[in-house]
Order: sequence, then C-alpha cells, then structure tokens
Amino acid sequence: MSNRQMTLAMQLGNGYGMQGGAWRAPGVDPANYVNFDAQVRYAQAAERGKFTFLFIPDFLVQTGELVHEAPHLTLDPLLTAAAVARETSHIGLIPTGSTTFSEPYTIARQFKALDVMSHGRMGWNAVTTSDPGSAANFGAQIAPRPERYQRAHETIQIVQALWGSWEKDAWLKDTASGRFANPTRIQPVNLQGEYVASRGPLPIPPSEQGQPVIFSAGGGPNVLELAGRYSSGVIGAVFTIEDARAQRNAIRDAARKAGRNPDEVKFFAGLMPAMGATKRAALDRRVALGEYTFPARVPYLGSMLGLDLNVNQIDQPLNPAQLAVAHASPFDPRSPRALEIAREGWTIRDILAHGVIDYHPTPVGPAAVTADHMQEWFDAEAVDGFWLLFDVYEDAIDTFVDEVVPLLQDRGLYHREYEGATLRENLGARPQYGLDPRLTI
Ligand SMILES: Cc1cc2nc3c(=O)[nH]c(=O)nc-3n(C[C@H](O)[C@H](O)[C@H](O)COP(=O)(O)O)c2cc1C
Repeated sequence: MSNRQMTLAMQLGNGYGMQGGAWRAPGVDPANYVNFDAQVRYAQAAERGKFTFLFIPDFLVQTGELVHEAPHLTLDPLLTAAAVARETSHIGLIPTGSTTFSEPYTIARQFKALDVMSHGRMGWNAVTTSDPGSAANFGAQIAPRPERYQRAHETIQIVQALWGSWEKDAWLKDTASGRFANPTRIQPVNLQGEYVASRGPLPIPPSEQGQPVIFSAGGGPNVLELAGRYSSGVIGAVFTIEDARAQRNAIRDAARKAGRNPDEVKFFAGLMPAMGATKRAALDRRVALGEYTFPARVPYLGSMLGLDLNVNQIDQPLNPAQLAVAHASPFDPRSPRALEIAREGWTIRDILAHGVIDYHPTPVGPAAVTADHMQEWFDAEAVDGFWLLFDVYEDAIDTFVDEVVPLLQDRGLYHREYEGATLRENLGARPQYGLDPRLTI
C-alpha cells in the first residue's frame, strides 16, 4: 500500500450550501446570508474533519436566480476569511482575488495581513476574472486573454516581491538596544510592468509560513501556464476519472516546463456528495432541495439527452420511445452520466436528484458510496485531493466528517491529524519568501 494520502478542502460559499433550496432546508436560518457566525461554524465543522483548507470563490457580481435561490457567494471573501481566521486554529483559508480588478499593492497588503492574523494559514486563489458582469461593476469590459494574463503574471510577481520586501530578519523588536527594525532589510521592490507597478516596500513582517501560497482555478492553457509557474494547487471541475487525470497531468507538465517539481502543484477535483442512510433517502433530500430549481432544469436535461422534455413529465421516467432515441449530447460532458441514470428507469425528478446537471460529480447514497468514489479517483492518480461542495452546510459537513472521514482514515487514505500549524506545512508546499528565485521574469 502506498503512503500517499489525499488532501481535502471545502468550498465556503453563501451561508446555506450549494443546492438552490438550502436556504429553506430544515434547521437552516433563512437569514444566514449575512450571518458570519454561521460561516465560522461551518469552518469549525470542516476543521473537526481535518480539512486542509477552505476555498472561497468570488465573482465581482451578483449571482443566483434570487426568486427561489440565494446568491451563491460570501458577502466578501477576505472579510469572511478574517472572521473565520479568528475562530479557527489549523484550517487554511484560500479566498479568491482578481488580478484584473485589484491593484497588486492592495492584494499584497490584505492577504499578508490575513496571513499574519491567521498565523500562516492563508492562500490566494488568483483569477483574472472573465465574466462581463464583473467588469461592468468596475465600469470596464473584459479585456482579451493575452492582456488579462499578462497583467496576471505581473500582478502575482509584484505581490510576491512585496510580500518579501520586509525581509525575514528585518524586525528586531530589541527593547535593550531600542532598535525596532533594521531598515537595510526593508527594501522597495521598484517593479514596473506593462499594466501594473509598485514601489514598495510592504510594511508587514513574515507570517509563520512566510507568505501566503498561490492557487489557481480552472484549466484553460493560460490558467495552466499561470499555475505551472506560481501555484501550489489548482481547483478543478472534471466529470470523469479520465478528464481528471488529463487535467492533473497537464498541470504537472506546466510545472515541469516552469522548472518546478510537478509534486509542488496539487490538483483538486470538485465533489458534491448526496448523502443519506439509503440511496432513496439521499435522493429524497435532493428532491426536497430542488423543489423549485428542478422544474426549470427539465428542458436543459432534455437537450443533454437529445430530447424535447416537458416539465409535465417530471414525475415519470423516460418512455420507451424516448429511451430509444435518447443520446448523450457532445456539447456537455455531463451528458453520458445523465443518459446512464435515465436508462436505469428513474423519474426525471430523480434523474435531476442524482446531480447530473450540477457542477461536479455527485456520489449518491450512504457514506461508503462517497468514500468509494474518492478512493477510486485517488488510487487512479487522477487527483491529489478533493474540494467538497456540500448541499446544506448546516448538517452535511457534520455528516461527511462523522461518516465519510472515518472510512477514509480506516483505509489509510486520509490523515487523522494536521501535519503542522501552517497551510504550507499541511499542504506540503515548499517554503517561499518573496519571488520564487527559479522563475525568470
Ligand atoms: C472550478 C473552478 C472555479 C473557479 N472559480 C472562480 C472564481 O471563484 N472566480 C473567478 O473569477 N473565476 C473562477 N473560475 C474561472 C477561471 O479562473 C477562469 O477565468 C475561467 O476558467 C475562464 O478562463 P479564461 O480566463 O482563460 O477565459 C473558476 C473556474 C473553475 C473551473
């Protein structure tokens, strides 16, 4: 048996969970949209399960359908991280920050202040921001990729240089000699790029891990190049083991090309388990959560199966004539799975309860189903770990921690304790302070 162990992360989004009806699920306070105590409770639940980090996505725009669904995101990722950092001790925090709509000095200052505040548990998910709605909130339009990614490279390098500008031995705090700091160890960075620049220095000493780690999300060629050079982890969206392995290999190749050891970049696949004592119980939970969202999804499910589906049929399975012509759409990678479930004879509502239109794979049933799925992907070396997107935070995190985590631990696939106190230690990321000296600008 190999000693490889998987790393787990959790998505922290709005105050409810990842299914449309989570805000009105039993036991959930419908006002949690603005409740930071709830976010802290969810983080503490994940920490009880020894999760390595919380991933906090961000789009700079209102999300969600709003009539029946809550917005998908936290009010502000960095302020959420601050609230959580003060009430947790080991779990890492990786909020998202835009390289396009923030200045490097602002990013450097906020993330490093949080790194000091959390005693070395911060990461930065660096995204370029690609949706027009976000740009509109800054009175701008989305620039072409070459421009966005050039600015991203410049921003990350300036941020890292600023992080290292208060050198490790600069802070003397020597009461006997009366010397607070050694200014010769606090240097400007004087970096001027095509799009961004900063003089520095940044007046923040190193945290327990030196400086935050960098993460990336997504898998296009530009994201890969960025991740290969700077990132310690990539958050991905993949539907099959084959896709996951291909993504992981592409990321590892990108790291090699940048002159790094491929093991320095870990790949995390999203996972949305539907848990219940039985498969039927797990489906019923999702059916209740999808009371309003499922009917609206019927036509789209039809397009995934090459059928013209009507919402009136939602509580019936596909009929023989439909099954005879149904085929998986080549335009949506989730279609083969949807077809497979449809052919098992489930009603359309139950097909949707299997999560076939959700953003990540959904194992359905008792804890062992989720544990088996995770083991299969991990043993196939398709992932280094998973980021879990729970349907209702209020109870699903605890269910996973109490039921799935022990199975993974008993199988030797998952740690029983945190390896260290900082995110770098728990992630197995190498020490870095300032720019990576292996990178040529
Ligand atoms: C799993 C996953 C999570 C993502 N999370 C975010 C996010 O929180 N904020 C964001 O602006 N973009 C996010 N993205 C988008 C990517 O950063 C990237 O912009 C997108 O894949 C488009 O690529 P492009 O920039 O090459 O056009 C995410 C992408 C994936 C696949």
